[in-house]
Amino acid sequence: MAFPERFSGLPEYAFPRLRTLLDAHPPGGPVTHMSIGEPRHAQPDFVGPVIAENVADFGRYPPNDGTPELQSAIAGWVQRRYRVALDPERQILPLNGTREGLFNAAIALCPEQVRGQKPVVLIPNPFYQVYAVAAAAVGAEPVFVPADRETGFLPDFSALPRDVLGRTAIAYLCSPSNPQGAVADRDYWAGLIALAEKHDFQIFADECYSEIYRDAPPPGALEVAHEGQAGPERVVIFHSLSKRSNLPGLRSGFAAGGPESLARMKRLRAYAGAPLPLPLQRVAERAWADEAHVAASRALYQEKYAIADAVFAGLPGYFPPEGGFFLWLPVEDGEAAALKLWRETGIRVLPGAYLAREAGGVNPGKRFIRVALVATADETRAALSRLRACLYD
Ligand SMILES: Cc1ncc(COP(=O)(O)O)c(C=O)c1O
Repeated sequence: MAFPERFSGLPEYAFPRLRTLLDAHPPGGPVTHMSIGEPRHAQPDFVGPVIAENVADFGRYPPNDGTPELQSAIAGWVQRRYRVALDPERQILPLNGTREGLFNAAIALCPEQVRGQKPVVLIPNPFYQVYAVAAAAVGAEPVFVPADRETGFLPDFSALPRDVLGRTAIAYLCSPSNPQGAVADRDYWAGLIALAEKHDFQIFADECYSEIYRDAPPPGALEVAHEGQAGPERVVIFHSLSKRSNLPGLRSGFAAGGPESLARMKRLRAYAGAPLPLPLQRVAERAWADEAHVAASRALYQEKYAIADAVFAGLPGYFPPEGGFFLWLPVEDGEAAALKLWRETGIRVLPGAYLAREAGGVNPGKRFIRVALVATADETRAALSRLRACLYD
């Protein structure tokens, strides 16, 4: 029997790799998980009651495109957050979390060819891993673009050769970024949108960390596109309740953008998608309409940014994250550092190389570790102090 080759080149996923690296060794102290980006702040208190009120609806098939009430709640949030008015029915698609949306959007929207050639998908390096598997699924050529210190931890797509840009179908961009915590400002987005207009490619803006930031809310791709009067199909944004509302297990997010793109995504989803169960759509509807729980959670992250800044004060190469909940810490070798940290302190972090690809002989994540600030402030302070003592002092 023949099997496909298109996924054969994928490296093992980051977390099994981490288990292989660490689990043959005993931890050197109380086990502290800082490797997985799973929010651990309290979930909003309405989740249980809303599910209970709507439990009978588990007996019904949910609508593929989401309920009108959920579409409206999301449109209301986009309007308040980004001052962009969307048609709730034609421009919004509720998702089972952004991961499936980021994948399926490529299937729905990546053309078979661009100007008669194999399409290119631009991917920041390091990156959230689904972008690469989406490119592989559609038979596109992934082009990994370094997002390291020299480029402000965001990729400089404009520096790519013209022939690459001329074949580009899609550029993924994550802001605030996982893993570095860099925020694309208005100028960055405007530049990227202008580049996309010039070379006629689409931007998939992964903004699932948009509500976790220091002072000012990060600008969104859709609002900048709207202000600059870019074509309506230029940008598709992806948002999630996983990080914003501490509900990673709800599996709820949305995509929004131009009506043609959204119609194509909906058509694919009608055939092959798994819509969110109705009681969970009701929870999502409630969550997008409420900011109090989001502000409370953000305040906890802001406290942890301050803790991290204090613990790593004076550390050469420390990049204070502008958003999101990861630290991207410089080390000689990420795997060696993660192993030493585990064996000497019991803290689990992810080697940066597991989140990046080697391109041009360089893996831009190799000299980093990713540290998730998901525990309580006290646990975070204690763990980061142990980490600094182990790796840097
Ligand atoms: C950058 C980024 N995008 C997307 C996701 C997917 O989130 P979800 O599918 O829970 O919405 C994650 C989750 O860790 C992420 O870090």
